[in-house]
Amino acid sequence: MGYNNTMETIEKIRKRTARVGIIGLGYVGLPLVREFVRAGFRVTGFDIDLRKVKLLREGKTYIKHIPAETIAEMNGTKRFTPTADFSKLRTMECILICVPTPLNQYREPDLTYVFDTARTIAKYLVKNQLIVLESTTYPGTTDEDMRKILEASGLRAGKDFFLAYSPEREDPGNQDFAADRIPKVVGGYTGNCLKVAEALYDTVVTTVPVGSTRVAEAAKLFENIFRSVNIALVNELKMLFDRMGIDVWEVIQAASTKPFGFMPFYPGPGLGGHCIPIDPFYLTWKARQYDFHTRFIELAGEINTFMPYYVVGRILDAMNSGGKGIKGSTILILGLAYKKDVDDVRESPSLKLIELLTEKGAVVDYNDPHVLKTHRMRRYDFRMSSVPLTARSLKKYDCVVISTDHSSYDYGFIVRHSRLIVDTRNATAGLKSPKIVRA
Ligand SMILES: NC(=O)c1ccc[n+]([C@@H]2O[C@H](COP(=O)([O-])OP(=O)(O)OC[C@H]3O[C@@H](n4cnc5c(N)ncnc54)[C@H](O)[C@@H]3O)[C@@H](O)[C@H]2O)c1
Repeated sequence: MGYNNTMETIEKIRKRTARVGIIGLGYVGLPLVREFVRAGFRVTGFDIDLRKVKLLREGKTYIKHIPAETIAEMNGTKRFTPTADFSKLRTMECILICVPTPLNQYREPDLTYVFDTARTIAKYLVKNQLIVLESTTYPGTTDEDMRKILEASGLRAGKDFFLAYSPEREDPGNQDFAADRIPKVVGGYTGNCLKVAEALYDTVVTTVPVGSTRVAEAAKLFENIFRSVNIALVNELKMLFDRMGIDVWEVIQAASTKPFGFMPFYPGPGLGGHCIPIDPFYLTWKARQYDFHTRFIELAGEINTFMPYYVVGRILDAMNSGGKGIKGSTILILGLAYKKDVDDVRESPSLKLIELLTEKGAVVDYNDPHVLKTHRMRRYDFRMSSVPLTARSLKKYDCVVISTDHSSYDYGFIVRHSRLIVDTRNATAGLKSPKIVRA
């Protein structure tokens, strides 16, 4: 792209006359809409899900941590337009892509959402537009795969339109780090692509420019692999220390007093959420093209995937000690969401626990104040509803399993009224009772 086109686009961004289109209004896209609306832009939100578009138009929300008041506030500015009409893409100066990047049934990258979106953009692509991919993916997706699809329009990346990659670092439910407080890595296909993308993100957040889209893609995967590997390490140590009669939580607390070179990670019933269990395998898949095996990623995946099985083993042992078999027993899972205080059940280990325990003949219920009933998922269709958490209902179960340590739970109350508690999160720390088994 020439100097003049670059400066002209940057000027439009600075003056807020550039229109921003955000494709995919989910956990990542919707908070991004909010940030750009607040920064004074006219923002069009695109989604193929008509239900979401309708709810947003009515000022309603479908994401717990983006309240309806925020949607109403955005609608009130008259600068936010939710739509499923993708022909409006041609009127945007900046287009950000926040569509899902899951794994398919063979645990390989499923880029259909990204590629479908790129094909749609290619249909409406006009000169000088900025296209940024935000979805997590392997290095090369932006400047290789997506670029080719976009260039089928006849326009050239870096020459006719700006192309960039900037990964999301959203941590849903984390009050300390809202979207506008997390620095954002940005990589451009060319130097001018980077300049324009940086100018856009600079209006809402601190940017971290890097030398290419591939570095930005790799940085995002590295961050998630780092978590996955360290969680696997602490999960493995938990299993060993359990056997040795050492409390892993006390070990972590002690080690965390080292003021340098240590960072605590915490064990649990398995990995959950939309990122950590999935993203590392994008790199594993891409590595094969380079005749390379990502052994750390595979090993971490193996250990983390085993954790729900380990917890089931601990439940079996705990019940066995009380002279009770698992078949025909009643078990209550506390927390269906994959982590505390959110309503997101994607990849939640609680789902795996329900599956495994049901397979063994247990009658399983769950309680989750944030997930009142289950919806059909890719893998599961439990058709369950959250049962009430009362002294009477707790007493009914042979075993209560703390799978997600929501802050709203009164753990003293739960311990008092349950017959047996298997705690996978150290939620009952400080409570002493022979009924508690840590797993
Ligand atoms: N959720 C997180 O905390 C998080 C954090 C960092 C990165 N990411 C990454 O961000 C990306 C999006 O994740 P998410 O959690 O927001 O997903 P999501 O499922 O919450 O939202 C994706 C949205 O895209 C829409 N969509 C799908 N195909 C579309 C298409 N062709 N055109 C328009 N809209 C389409 C869906 O209807 C949905 O509303 C993924 O790559 C994910 O790995 C997510």
